[in-house]
Amino acid sequence: MIRKMIRLKNEKQIDGIRRSCRMLSAMYRDLVPLVKPGVETLELDKWTRNWIKKAGGKPAFLGYGPKSNPYPAALCISINHEVIHGIPSRRRIAAGDLVSLDCGIDLEGFFSDQAITVEAGRVAEPVHALNMVTKECLYKGIEAAKAGDRLLQIGRAVYGYASLRGYGVVRQFCGHGVGFDLHEDPAVPNDPHGPNPKMTRGLVIAIEPMINLGTGEVELMKDGWTVVTADHKLSAHWEHTIAVFSDYTEILTEKIDP
Ligand code: MF3
Ligand code: CO
Repeated sequence: MIRKMIRLKNEKQIDGIRRSCRMLSAMYRDLVPLVKPGVETLELDKWTRNWIKKAGGKPAFLGYGPKSNPYPAALCISINHEVIHGIPSRRRIAAGDLVSLDCGIDLEGFFSDQAITVEAGRVAEPVHALNMVTKECLYKGIEAAKAGDRLLQIGRAVYGYASLRGYGVVRQFCGHGVGFDLHEDPAVPNDPHGPNPKMTRGLVIAIEPMINLGTGEVELMKDGWTVVTADHKLSAHWEHTIAVFSDYTEILTEKIDP
């Protein structure tokens, strides 16, 4: 019954999603050098909107969500104890900040989603370690995404890798199906709980571990979007869009090494 809601993609549709993903990663390659101490986060958002427009895509996050409080930007910028969905503002990035960037593109109806976490200037060693482990968690999750296996293998891999090292795993937010829409079924949790469909050829998902220096507990801010750690310790976030084929899994978004 759960499987019925998963919209599997054919090769041609995956070609379209891949193009959207390539565009998104190209945007990130140009954006990363601008993520420096002193830059205003609203400037980064304006830049991103422009880039995507010039490239012929649409920012998938802009206007997303409830009509009463749609997401107001193209880019999510979540700094330090902010986990996800930070709203760009007049705030300036400071040296030592841990800056998570999350963006999606709608290219001719094909949706991509990718997040990276950038260290602005030099960050403290435990903060850098958190960031690297979070990125590793993403790749552990991707390795577990294989046709014929169960979806919760992804969360099992992510959760095991992070918790063994003493980090908190955010469970209130998940990865997700993606491609025809920004958020589709199935939910792709970062721990092994919930529906556990078999992964098959044509499954396109975003895997996105959110890993904390303290506990995995999070809270929603009054703006209705920004998610922060409950203990105000730091958090990192990495995300790729991937496609499952019968005998291999392809990472559709490209590696960004800030
Ligand atoms: N990548 C984000 C996610 O999957 C999408 C942000 S939702 C938006 O949660 F509203 F901020 F666009
Ligand atoms: Co996502």
